[in-house]
Amino acid sequence: MIILIGSHKGGVGKSTQFINVLMCLLLKGKKVVLLECDDQRSIKMWIDERREKKIPPDFDYHECYTNIRETALRLAKKNNIVLIDAPGRKSPEFRKCLSVADLFISLVDPTAQIEVNTLGEMVVDVKWVQSSINLGLKAFIVMNRCPTDPRDRDASTFYKMMNDDKDWLRVAHQRIYQRTAHKRAYNNALSVYEYNDKLSNKARGELDLLLAELGII
Ligand SMILES: Nc1ncnc2c1ncn2[C@@H]1O[C@H](COP(=O)(O)OP(=O)(O)OP(=O)(O)O)[C@@H](O)[C@H]1O
Ligand SMILES: [Mg+2]
Repeated sequence: MIILIGSHKGGVGKSTQFINVLMCLLLKGKKVVLLECDDQRSIKMWIDERREKKIPPDFDYHECYTNIRETALRLAKKNNIVLIDAPGRKSPEFRKCLSVADLFISLVDPTAQIEVNTLGEMVVDVKWVQSSINLGLKAFIVMNRCPTDPRDRDASTFYKMMNDDKDWLRVAHQRIYQRTAHKRAYNNALSVYEYNDKLSNKARGELDLLLAELGII
């Protein structure tokens, strides 16, 4: 299975959640290979720091910016999952990734109109790929950095608005909340599955539920 985490917008949390999805899958015993298609190389920097600090496990890491389709298909033959981190912009790399993925996950902060505004054009691109060159592509929007304040209604409003309209992509029910554990884990070259404090317990629980909902674990 080829899983792509991408968006037309930068800074929505792709690389942070890529690392968490990766670690969740490894803990479930999946054979996962990493494919970085964003030349910002956030994943490589994280891995380099782990290697320097000798934090196990090591990863099967590849980067590719041109023949992405062929590379992903080749890696998929020998692994359960190819996990792709794509650039946070409308780009040829992103389109190539979409053409080969089985599952596309896009993140958005539902409280940030600047992020929500980029979804329309991205959804058009995804729908075009689904109806022309990659008929099997499943696509979900995941709400990230949601406020933990129960009085906040933005996420529920966004969820209802998107899922009531068939022209949009489906929004996953399970949210990822705004938690400092995400930043702290990355800063320590860890995932929230390895970073131990109360907040990362909650972050792990949310991710487990999300990945089960998306049918990945
Ligand atoms: N659920 C979360 N809670 C708190 N902070 C988060 C969460 N998800 C991501 N972040 C923070 O958001 C910032 C952007 O994250 P990240 O670099 O992973 O985004 P990105 O989409 O990969 O960006 P780019 O498009 O530049 O590659 C980081 O500071 C990260 O710690
Ligand atoms: Mg990134």
